[in-house]
Amino acid sequence: MPSKNAQENWGASLGAILAVAGSAVGLGNFLRFPGQVALHGGGAFMIPYVIALFVIAIPLAMSEWALGRYAGRMGFHSPLGALYVAGGRKIRWGFAGCLNTFSPFVIAMYYIVIEAWCLAYAAQYLGGLLQHVGLGFSLFSDVAPGLKFESTSGYEEFFGRLVGVGQDGSLFGSGARAILWTTLACAAMNFFLIYKGVSKGIERFCKAVAPLILLCAVAVIIRVVTLGNPTGTPGQSFLDGLGFMWNPTREIVNASGEVVGRATLAQSLFNPEVWLAATAQIFFSTSICFGAICTYASYVKSRGDVALSSVSAVATNEFCEVVLGGLMTVPPAIMFLGAAASKSVGSSFALGFNVLPNVFGLMPMGQLCGFVLFTLLFLAAITSSVSMVQPAVALFQDSLQWSRKQSAVVVSSINLVGTAIVSWFTKDLMALDVFDFWVANLMPFMGGALQTCVIVFVWGNASLMTELKRGARINPPKRLGGFLKYVTFPYLLLVFGFWAWKNMADRVEQIATQFVPKLSVLFMLSVLAAILLLGFVSMKRWTRLESLGLNSNNQPQA
Ligand code: ALA
Repeated sequence: MPSKNAQENWGASLGAILAVAGSAVGLGNFLRFPGQVALHGGGAFMIPYVIALFVIAIPLAMSEWALGRYAGRMGFHSPLGALYVAGGRKIRWGFAGCLNTFSPFVIAMYYIVIEAWCLAYAAQYLGGLLQHVGLGFSLFSDVAPGLKFESTSGYEEFFGRLVGVGQDGSLFGSGARAILWTTLACAAMNFFLIYKGVSKGIERFCKAVAPLILLCAVAVIIRVVTLGNPTGTPGQSFLDGLGFMWNPTREIVNASGEVVGRATLAQSLFNPEVWLAATAQIFFSTSICFGAICTYASYVKSRGDVALSSVSAVATNEFCEVVLGGLMTVPPAIMFLGAAASKSVGSSFALGFNVLPNVFGLMPMGQLCGFVLFTLLFLAAITSSVSMVQPAVALFQDSLQWSRKQSAVVVSSINLVGTAIVSWFTKDLMALDVFDFWVANLMPFMGGALQTCVIVFVWGNASLMTELKRGARINPPKRLGGFLKYVTFPYLLLVFGFWAWKNMADRVEQIATQFVPKLSVLFMLSVLAAILLLGFVSMKRWTRLESLGLNSNNQPQA
């Protein structure tokens, strides 16, 4: 049977870099990062963060790009197919890629929901509800009656009603239904981009929105920097806001938001949780070991560069995170709300959907600023969620010889089931939290360890270097394989071990005792089982084709 899939490629090498950077730059950069820095020791957090950047992010990004492009040349585009082919076409090594195919797929199911909140807030700022003035329309006025937007708690209540924190199924009842429309709109946009394909959908979109994201970020930063000391309160100037976030000694704030002491640099650095948080942030933010980079790199042309591209994509992500994300969100919160804001900024949701709307309510031109910021968050989120669905689409294409369009329809439909579960079980955002814990926190560590294991112990340094050097515009580090083996891999295991020891017991108990976590985990396990089954059947078929001298597309091998 001839293949229905023509080989897809990025149109330009800049397109590949922008797509990978678009995958990496997301809510993690603008909401999660500033909150984590403020929570874990300000400037002190940056020491383990920079170490994780060099020990984990850059080496793993280089190896993942090389692995992806190598697999793409052989006709494999999913992380499962990539590790199968890099592992000498052994089924057991292909299984090592299951987690990196599974986790981004499941992350996208709830990431789209958060994306929909950002779209809803952007629309809301355009309409003016959160500012009491505006163009006079509101898509979400049904959740606002009786609310006073005078303090963070008013905005918190609005957010809770909008996303259904009070009761499971409330979004599907009368009243707060509007958020479902933005969720469906986001799911449709993701589907459309995937359906259009790598070059005509994802690449075009990433190229179009990259300047827009930058423009929005610069506009928000100019607004924040030019505010001076808007409330006139000592300790709440722009520099105080920056100092709160970046000083290496950290203020300790009690439950009522009063400063009760300072944690020193040494105290922060001797706290293993700071190291864990910094490493987890690097994983989440750079999207390494999420499967997306491997799949995106598989569409790089065989003579294209992966060495410089991998470093460029990480550098772009870091610029957006540390420079733009570091200026945009936490400093204005401190400028307007003082130390009282600091107890909320550690949670991405509280910072993004409660604290910042309160800040925009107090800020001159806050409505415009809110609209620009939430538009930015929405655009950054959509370029990330699209990349998370792509590994599963690629698996269907490679495994079943389905066309991109068929695969996009099936994968997006399964995705919608997960999104529906997260949108139904909204009480205390329980389903979202369970999905997030198991797939966004656990899987990249496990998937990353398995992927690194196959790259360094099976594929080997020689193959890795040959692939990195092919078409390279910089000299890749000669000892990358050794570094991955003796530094990155043990570091990864150490951090993962510590993370598991700290977090797993409570979460396992939560599954044993509560219905929503149990159901969510069962759903995720079913998706994983389906991927394992599909992977097994596909790898059997690929092995048979290999013995006939054919590649996965039934074409003679290159
Ligand atoms: N890397 C993506 C983000 O930062 C997942 O949101």
